[in-house]
Amino acid sequence: MADLQSQIEELWARAGELGPSDVDALEVVNQAIEMLDKGEARVAEIDAETGEVVVHSWLKTAILLLFRLRSIATTELGQFEYADKLPLKRGYQEAGVRVVPGASARWGSFLDRGVILMPSYVNIGARVGAETMVDTWATVGSCAQIGARVHLSGGVGIGGVLEPPNAAPVMVGDDAMIGSRCMVTQGARVGEGAVLGEGTILNPSIPVIDAETGEELGRGSVPAWSVAVGASRRREFPGGEFFMPCVLVLKRLDPGQRHDKAQLEAVLREQQVST
Ligand SMILES: CC(C)(COP(=O)(O)OP(=O)(O)OC[C@H]1O[C@@H](n2cnc3c(N)ncnc32)[C@H](O)[C@@H]1OP(=O)(O)O)[C@@H](O)C(=O)NCCC(=O)NCCS
Repeated sequence: MADLQSQIEELWARAGELGPSDVDALEVVNQAIEMLDKGEARVAEIDAETGEVVVHSWLKTAILLLFRLRSIATTELGQFEYADKLPLKRGYQEAGVRVVPGASARWGSFLDRGVILMPSYVNIGARVGAETMVDTWATVGSCAQIGARVHLSGGVGIGGVLEPPNAAPVMVGDDAMIGSRCMVTQGARVGEGAVLGEGTILNPSIPVIDAETGEELGRGSVPAWSVAVGASRRREFPGGEFFMPCVLVLKRLDPGQRHDKAQLEAVLREQQVST
């Protein structure tokens, strides 16, 4: 992998000269994207010791190079016509993934066993953990890292990050439940087992406040095993008083506990595959 990394870095250094005729460069980049697609490599992960996000930016640059090295091609499906540079993922049944018509995931995203895609979208570089449900009209942006047994409810928008290459993607921990129409963007983090109420907006500028103590817990990061909802707080500006968004942590859960409203229905997740 170190060799592949240095080849990608060398290509990135002269990206401006490359184009669709550089088949050797494309061959190298394809190897990196195939690793992402199979889940053998990931764009970002959490360092178990420090708890910080580590971004493997060479994999992000491989994705950017892919856009430079591939040409647009037209695909037709019945009366639908598409023109894109990237192919879609394939081989869902062998991968133990259920994909409902209307869903699409790009090649170079990874869907672990037991994932269910309702009509939704998963972009390149994203990683979705085992048994996670990506509900209708949810979008998982490029390079976003979603844990196992997560529920991304209907219409959730998980932001993507391809530029700049060292920007951290959104990280959602195992067992989290993201309520309908939430927007989680720009490297925001949702801890393991956390529940986000409907419509919550979370980004690294938005303060997360403990409703019990009033303490600001940080920005853009919801603690593990907590229930948090979108709220607003009064702020003074030279132009007057305005209500600005914040996220309020309403309660703490015991590790492993699921909030009553975040319980999962097994029959919806049954895949007849071992996970
Ligand atoms: C976030 C969620 C867990 C909160 O559930 P809850 O049972 O109301 O939570 P709690 O019991 O912890 O409520 C604590 C208090 O906060 C209030 N509260 C909870 N969510 C709130 C919200 N979004 N806005 C304002 N107040 C809220 C409750 O009314 C309650 O107030 P009270 O103590 O005065 O009665 C729940 O609304 C949820 O699961 N939302 C996501 C649902 C969803 O998107 N499902 C998708 C299906 S596809």
